[in-house]
Amino acid sequence: LKVGVLISGRGSNLQALIDACADSAFPAEIVLVLSNRADAYGLERARRAGIPAAVVSHRDFADKPGFEAAMDDALNAAGVELVCLAGFMRLLTAGFVERWHDRLINIHPSLLPSFKGLDTHARAIAAGVRFTGCTVHYVRPAMDEGPIILQAVVPILEGDDDHALADRVLVAEHRCYPGALKLIAEGRARVDGDRVLIAGGPA
Ligand code: GRF
Repeated sequence: LKVGVLISGRGSNLQALIDACADSAFPAEIVLVLSNRADAYGLERARRAGIPAAVVSHRDFADKPGFEAAMDDALNAAGVELVCLAGFMRLLTAGFVERWHDRLINIHPSLLPSFKGLDTHARAIAAGVRFTGCTVHYVRPAMDEGPIILQAVVPILEGDDDHALADRVLVAEHRCYPGALKLIAEGRARVDGDRVLIAGGPA
């Protein structure tokens, strides 16, 4: 499966996907990394792995559809079949999301549908929940909504601040995202209405 990854920054989830794909038995290959920011460290990770990487800056376009059309062109030219959002910090229009319907996934640092949006860890701590985690899901036009592919649960410990919790959740993210990609690449994840059915179970 040919994968394109969209990033805006650090790219540690991109790195987890790169590492998974480095195994010749892994059924997916990253053929393009796009960043909307020229200073994203993830671009360096892509270059180091020999993966084509490009900057498509939203600032170079008059409007969002123009920006997204440029990303579409790059993704299509590279033969991308599945787009992974990995810390991509721009909201996508419904037009882009629909063009990539069921071919666009995201990782979010909470157990959706709880704590959509930003600052998930501080909000989870403030809410007093005992567990949080991460979710990989198909993208729908509404932010952080869409059929859930895989989740991982992470405990919130006494004395956690948002940084400590973010670090612990990130470890889970780095397992979850390659896991979800594998399920899709193996053809084991099927969208059925609002849910994803996993052939053989999500283990
Ligand atoms: C991750 O926590 C991801 O869940 C969220 O943004 C962060 C990106 O981190 N959407 P990185 O760029 O993958 O290191």
